Amino acid sequence: MGEKITLSVIKADVGGYVGHSSVHPKLLETAERSLAGNKLLIDYHVARVGDDINLIMTHKYGVDCPEIHHLAWNVFLNCTETARELKQYGAGQDLLSDAFSGNIKGMGPGVAEMEFEERKSEPVIIFAADKTEPGAWNFPLYKMFADPFNTIGLVIDPKMHEGFCFEVYDLVNNERVEFNLPEEMYDLLVFIGAPGRYCIKSVYSRTSNEIAAVSSTQRLNLMAGRYVGKDDPVCIVRCQSGLPAVGEALEPFANPHLVAGWMRGSHIGPLMPVGLNDASPTRFDGPPRVVAMGFQLAQGKLIGPKDLFADVAFDRARQTANEIANYLRSLGPFEPHRLPLEDMEYTTMPEVMSRLKHRFTRVGPKKAKVSGV
Ligand code: F6R
Ligand code: MG
Ligand code: MG
Repeated sequence: MGEKITLSVIKADVGGYVGHSSVHPKLLETAERSLAGNKLLIDYHVARVGDDINLIMTHKYGVDCPEIHHLAWNVFLNCTETARELKQYGAGQDLLSDAFSGNIKGMGPGVAEMEFEERKSEPVIIFAADKTEPGAWNFPLYKMFADPFNTIGLVIDPKMHEGFCFEVYDLVNNERVEFNLPEEMYDLLVFIGAPGRYCIKSVYSRTSNEIAAVSSTQRLNLMAGRYVGKDDPVCIVRCQSGLPAVGEALEPFANPHLVAGWMRGSHIGPLMPVGLNDASPTRFDGPPRVVAMGFQLAQGKLIGPKDLFADVAFDRARQTANEIANYLRSLGPFEPHRLPLEDMEYTTMPEVMSRLKHRFTRVGPKKAKVSGV
């Protein structure tokens, strides 16, 4: 057995430029400086999508390593300091605590990590999205690992034909459950079709038992007990040789699906696949964006990123997303563009209701005057 490496992606919004649309280059410089030369890491890459900073790190210390999480926490603290100096919008917004407590999960930043033995060649894709929530990965992960109309490898590659095991989190009850596909496909879909509550956390190959994909699944607002933005999620997918080909992992995004998020975390919009240079959501703070960074790992070194959605073959998806966005915007404050009351991150309802309560009167049939009639 060779030595295992860990790929950790830890992300946070610690200040937007301008508003919630992007990150000032000085914050990215601070992140670079804070990670440079760190002895814990084999390699790192600092990326951005929308107003989120993504720290992509390789090391040998496994998932949930307190030292690695603490390192990421300190990077975000340093970036927050830069954000405060430049009076960036919402400086420090995702850091929910004053002090680090051993694991960055539950403290605000999003985390996706996996540990594996590096294969002879190790292509990975890191997907990062802005203005949406972790359930946004349910649809594409299902397509990649379970839908033969998306992934022909499920049908014709003997190393994929046995299917994949999906681990799903119930974010409300904090429970986990596994499904073996293809035979439990219908059971899985009952849950993951409700992405605001049930999220695919990880996917394993049933042929090799190898980890194939892992996503970030925290719900910041449930943790903080107040609105602190949607939990713009990240997802790692390993590719090729018995796992989806790079093209099969990208293919679900050619048909932009609808996700919760967008303006004030309270709307439905299409998830638009974009190149890294177009990852600044501005129209109505959106529409939600997703980037795909491809890396080849070489002894833990991150060779890349290759900007995979920069391909002109995704122009059509962007056009479709813009058309869907235009149509949904025309609905203004009406559902289904605006989320149902219980899913909105912002609402004035309690205040409006308490002011108008006395004006509500009962409607319905009058009570019978004579008993028994
Ligand atoms: C959505 C998001 C933005 C803000 C919006 C209002 O996740 O971050 O759409 O919700 O710009 O922001 P505030 O309330 O800070 O003025
Ligand atoms: Mg923000
Ligand atoms: Mg964001």
